[in-house]
Amino acid sequence: RGSKQDEAGDKRSELNMEGALTARDRVGVQDFVLLDSHTSETAFLDNLRKRYRENLIYTYIGTLLVSVNPYKELGIYSVKQMEIYQGVNFFELPPHIYAIADNAYRVMCTEYNNHFILISGESGAGKTEASKKILQYFAVTCPTTEQLQIVRDRLLLSNPVLEAFGNAKTLRNDNSSRFGKYMDIQFDFKGAPVGGHILSYLIEKSRVVHQNQGERNFHIFYQLLESGEEDLLRWLGLEPAPQKYMYLIQGRCAKVSSINDKSDWKTVRKALSVIDFTDTNIEHLFGVIASVLHLGNIQYEEDSNGHAIITNGSQIKWLSKVSPLGRRSFHSDLEAGIEGTSPLNIDLAFCARDAAAKAIYGRTFTWLVNKINGSLANKDLTRKTVIGLLDIYGFEVFDTNSFEQFCINYCNEKLQQLLIEMTLKAEQEEYELEGIEWEPIPYFNNKIICDLVEEKHKGIISILDEECLRPGEATDLSFLEKLEEKVGDHAHFLTRKLADQKTRKSIDWVDFRLLHYAGEVTYCVVGECGLDNKPVLCKSKNGIIKECFLPLELDNRRRPETVATQFKNSLVSLIEILMSKEPSYIRCIKPNEGKEPGKFDDVLIRHQVKYLGLMEHLRVRRAGFAYRRKYEVFLQRYKSLCPATWPHWHGSASEGVERLIKHIGYKPEEYKLGRTKIFIRFPRTLFATEDAFEYSKHLLVTRIQAKYKGCLGKREYKKQRKAAIKLEACWRGVLARKEAKKRMWAVETIRKFIKGFINRKNPICPENDEFVRFVQYTYLTKLKDHVPKSVLDQNWLKAPATLEETSELLKKICMRNLVRKYCQGITAEKKAQLQQKVIASAIFRGKKDGYVQSINQPFADTRLSETDINPKVLQLIRGEKVKYVTPVVKYDRKGFKARERQLVLTQSAAYVVEMAKIKQKIDYATLKGISTSNLSDGLLVVHVPEDSKQKGDAILHCEHIFETVTKLCMLANKQNAVSIVQGSLQFHVSPGKEGTITFTSGQEPQIYKAKNGHLTVVRPSSRTRVLTFSQR
Ligand SMILES: Nc1ncnc2c1ncn2[C@@H]1O[C@H](COP(=O)(O)OP(=O)(O)OP(=O)(O)O)[C@@H](O)[C@H]1O
Ligand SMILES: [Mg+2]
Repeated sequence: RGSKQDEAGDKRSELNMEGALTARDRVGVQDFVLLDSHTSETAFLDNLRKRYRENLIYTYIGTLLVSVNPYKELGIYSVKQMEIYQGVNFFELPPHIYAIADNAYRVMCTEYNNHFILISGESGAGKTEASKKILQYFAVTCPTTEQLQIVRDRLLLSNPVLEAFGNAKTLRNDNSSRFGKYMDIQFDFKGAPVGGHILSYLIEKSRVVHQNQGERNFHIFYQLLESGEEDLLRWLGLEPAPQKYMYLIQGRCAKVSSINDKSDWKTVRKALSVIDFTDTNIEHLFGVIASVLHLGNIQYEEDSNGHAIITNGSQIKWLSKVSPLGRRSFHSDLEAGIEGTSPLNIDLAFCARDAAAKAIYGRTFTWLVNKINGSLANKDLTRKTVIGLLDIYGFEVFDTNSFEQFCINYCNEKLQQLLIEMTLKAEQEEYELEGIEWEPIPYFNNKIICDLVEEKHKGIISILDEECLRPGEATDLSFLEKLEEKVGDHAHFLTRKLADQKTRKSIDWVDFRLLHYAGEVTYCVVGECGLDNKPVLCKSKNGIIKECFLPLELDNRRRPETVATQFKNSLVSLIEILMSKEPSYIRCIKPNEGKEPGKFDDVLIRHQVKYLGLMEHLRVRRAGFAYRRKYEVFLQRYKSLCPATWPHWHGSASEGVERLIKHIGYKPEEYKLGRTKIFIRFPRTLFATEDAFEYSKHLLVTRIQAKYKGCLGKREYKKQRKAAIKLEACWRGVLARKEAKKRMWAVETIRKFIKGFINRKNPICPENDEFVRFVQYTYLTKLKDHVPKSVLDQNWLKAPATLEETSELLKKICMRNLVRKYCQGITAEKKAQLQQKVIASAIFRGKKDGYVQSINQPFADTRLSETDINPKVLQLIRGEKVKYVTPVVKYDRKGFKARERQLVLTQSAAYVVEMAKIKQKIDYATLKGISTSNLSDGLLVVHVPEDSKQKGDAILHCEHIFETVTKLCMLANKQNAVSIVQGSLQFHVSPGKEGTITFTSGQEPQIYKAKNGHLTVVRPSSRTRVLTFSQR
């Protein structure tokens, strides 16, 4: 129930009554008291129309509900809807019949008093539907027990039975109630429905014997014939064909599409069993129905005396069977008429027959109601409260209005009086309760009309009684005369005779006109013939008929009551019943004559608004204040309009409202403050407030949204923050664990390294294994980057002890590789050069100064070309290939005179050449040796053998000493012939004679003949220079 209530609560705020004010231009106001021009019938109609167009069929006038028949299913009567309206303050939701029902129920429960809901309106306006909706509402929403379920079913099922017997198709309504009904629903102290009681009024008996074109008799006849079980029909002597029965064929519409006699029959049969009908009861009941049909088929013909005699006995036969009372007696009674003595003429005989049928049916209906009451009665004596539902015909006006209309309109007159009085009373009570000064409200009091009808001895009914019961011939006209005589001067009474010239035409000689509160109605006094069949019916063996026609009635001493008086009395007691209860009102309006959904017939509705006294009611309600609400409710809705009351007011609600309206600026004449409610006089004041509220709502919404979004944002932020912190913590944990692991690993590694280092020299074992491998790995990877790039680079990374051998091997491989690569890159010339250099190295390396500096200077092929040699010389050495030529300085062996010469080396000999002359030829074969000093000078001595043919050793000085000596050695193939001397050397001057050459270091280079006769060669000391150079 909880969630349902929440849901209902949500719906409620959505549908809030004042909430709909914003859409009032489209859907009108939900309460007519909020109409600005409340006296304007047009404004009233406009409002009704607007709402009707939007399918809003309900509108309030204060607490009165106006309902317009939608003639279509609106889907507003679901159980969900019932839940929405359950236990909700009357004004909190849009108008609905459930609100009326719930309000009555709630007040009944809390105040423990009795209520009634008066439903009125013209035929087809929706009264019966409304009363059914209310009954369903109670059935669904009231607490119940399994035991009470039976009562509930009976309450609900009493309706179809009563409708079958009391409703008929008329031109205005396919299911028209042809009787007035007042139904009490009894509730125990817990609010559970425990019983009921029904009063019926004025069943339209004439329908039993006569129907207008397009109308039907009561539904039950057709239901029985259409769907009655074969056995039953056979027993009743009926045929399943309505067209065979005189009482059913006059309207010529036994079948109607909107009525399903078959299923209705089933419902009725089921209902009868639920409502405690015994088989005998049912047998008798249908016996009565069959009797009526048989009666209708009785035909008379005139005998020779002009008396009516029955032509065919078969009906009588059946009559005797189904409501047995002795064939003969009944037969003659029907022929005899009223007193059962004097014979009747044919017209009166028909009349008597019809009267019998009507009486039987009418009383059976009353019996039926009583029977239902018996089953609904609650027998325990605890105190109960009741809600009465009065479904009664509204004001009726036809072209010709008979006595029946008179009764109906009189009834409405009374009810109107009740309504006005009770409304006024309620208003006054509310004012008193709220401590507001009572302002008398002017209104039309229709007591004067009620008196005209009902006053003892002076009223129309009394006059009618008198006239009917007076001995002697009573005619309709004598009754009219009597009326003129007694009430002729009454302001609301008129006959043709009393009327002025103008109105006279509209009143017939047999008419009288009453000015009802709702308008003028002209009644025709042509009455009914009053034949009495009671004697014969008292003798019936049909239980129901016997019960209905008690012999007591035949007692002549009792003055019988006329129908009018009976009705008046029942009305008086009804009014008494109602007066003792709290009222609620529902006024039903029929929107059009065609039963069409959506059609709003202005003329027809204006007429009903008038006859239902709605304008008058509105006037009374609006005379004081248009709007009233409990302080709490008013404050709750509008508190946002005043900064002092928004969002919370901490004082009392009344003070809050006072503060609020002061802020809004209500004028003193616009409102009154009661004890618990604020009263607002004009709708426009409320509308202005509502409009302001509507405007402020937008601002409020933005603020609330902002706040809410803020809250959401904050919540989200907190969530994210929490998540981030958690994440951070986790991540830090991960990092820390990683770090710890790393450190552990580091410690382990360091420890291993230390151990490895300590044991590094041991053979590979678990202690040093890793360390050694690491060292090896590191060395090798490092070595990769430090491999020598050239053959001359002697650097080599020092290897750890364990890799020394490997390192050596690697170094060798590397060197070999470098050398191989170097060799691959060497050209033929270069190779030749290098071969010469190798030889030069073998000769001079470490022996003669200046050699190191000379290494980088490549040897030339020759210093002079062949063209520089004198051709004569070339001629002379023809046949020998010149290999090398260089300019030299030759020193005489004796005087050491220096002379410029060319040294020409061929493949077989060396020539010292002066211009065109070969000064000396030295065959390589004879070459004894070559001498140079260890200093950096360019002097060389070529030694030859000491024989006479030879001239002696040649002393030469050349620029490129290393090159020249190397070439000479190579050509002579005498590398070992070179001697490098220190200090001095001896040379061979001539056979047997030797000379000396001294080599010294000095400042300046010079070659000269010293005093001692030696050739002295001075060279600046190159060692220091070399040193300086190498140092640099
Ligand atoms: N609230 C409603 N929703 C839908 N249809 C309705 C409603 N009220 C009445 N009707 C339709 O109008 C028809 C006539 O209604 P209802 O029998 O209640 O009229 P009534 O006022 O009781 O007339 P009468 O005085 O002839 O008995 C119904 O049969 C139904 O079709
Ligand atoms: Mg009805």
